[in-house]
Amino acid sequence: MFDHTTILPVKVNSICFESRQLGLPKISDEQTLKNLKIAADEISSTSDVIGFPTETVYGLGGSAINDKSVLNIFGAKNRPSDNPLIVHISSIDQLERIIKENTVDQSRAKIPEIYLPLIEKFWPGPLSILIPIDVDLSNMENHGYRLSKFVTNNLDTVAIRFPSDLVARLLIALSDTPIAAPSANTSTKPSPTTAQHVYNDLKGKISMILDGGSCNIGLESTVINGLVNPPRLLRPGGLLVKDIKKVKGFENLITEQSPVSNIDTEPVRTPGMKYKHYSPSGEVILIFNKKNDSQLLENKDFQDKFLAGFSLTKKSYKKTAIISQPIIPQTLKEKHEGTVFRQIGNSVEEIQKNMFGLLREMDEQKVEKIVIIINQDTIDEDGLAIKNRLSKAASKCLFF
Ligand code: TXA
Ligand code: MG
Repeated sequence: MFDHTTILPVKVNSICFESRQLGLPKISDEQTLKNLKIAADEISSTSDVIGFPTETVYGLGGSAINDKSVLNIFGAKNRPSDNPLIVHISSIDQLERIIKENTVDQSRAKIPEIYLPLIEKFWPGPLSILIPIDVDLSNMENHGYRLSKFVTNNLDTVAIRFPSDLVARLLIALSDTPIAAPSANTSTKPSPTTAQHVYNDLKGKISMILDGGSCNIGLESTVINGLVNPPRLLRPGGLLVKDIKKVKGFENLITEQSPVSNIDTEPVRTPGMKYKHYSPSGEVILIFNKKNDSQLLENKDFQDKFLAGFSLTKKSYKKTAIISQPIIPQTLKEKHEGTVFRQIGNSVEEIQKNMFGLLREMDEQKVEKIVIIINQDTIDEDGLAIKNRLSKAASKCLFF
């Protein structure tokens, strides 16, 4: 335990990278450089773990090449040890070094060709890819980039991500260490998109949090397995499936989460998807607005069916919230005074960005019942990741 969890502010606008291969960028703000150096030192020379921003969600980072750091990540989050971590890099050179030092047969020690166009197009960015590694490296010399076996719990693949967030990239580059980082929430809670969210979950359990403001995307990276044919989507996320499918080799990407016959199914799916996730303490009911009616909440049948039990005068009253994509009419707010009403946003980008913060706010407000209403066309098109996260948070999914 730590007496204090220090929040170290950093100004992302003061950082300027010139090319993605380049080691270190220019930093115009002294305090930012100082705080980043403190954090980078913590990663490279201790086994403590820290909170840091990425473009998707805040990560809980520790050295991926240090067993103790990796075990501390699992401990701070209370994460099951069989749920593998993503390793974050800040250059392609680092990935090549990881592959070389974690592969026995050096003739196989290169980035699998299938990924090259994907990397070219989407890195740095919200994309994680599975890379083969060997479990038994006992006959090989360790030059410093051997991954801790606890990162993957002895799997023969490791998920790698090259984040675009400049604070994240600089932290990795300054520490000269591949950083293992899950989302910086307590296991089962919604992912954190601000430093304050991380603090609320992990204060006293970690030494420091780099505060780079709120995350641009607000939802985790897309995880892809290109080692099977056809390639498979393991977790929908910030990078859209339709954009991945435009890339050579990924046209037939399999996106269903259930096993499909006639394909080379890989032995390992994404272990993280089997756990309860993203849940506030209150009960979440997810309603899909089949007709995409922006006035749905004015509809009398809808009101009778879903909103009737919300009156403060009812004995069975539970503190309730409506989080809605369709418009929340003023009259409804006036009618249900004790109820919390929040618009979740209109576009996929807005909903992604607001979603986890709103779920967290429900806990702060001690809401017991949360009704979330999302348009069908949002989830049919680019909102696969929204559907995935909200369905996991919900105890019931209904259509109206
Ligand atoms: O955007 C992100 O990916 C964030 C930020 C911090 O980078 N990280 C993140 O990590 O979301 P985490 O640990 O919360 O989710 C990682 C997901 C889990 O579902 C895990 O099971 C899966 O990736 N995963 C990691 N390594 C894997 C592997 N070798 N094979 C299959 N799935 C893997
Ligand atoms: Mg997570």
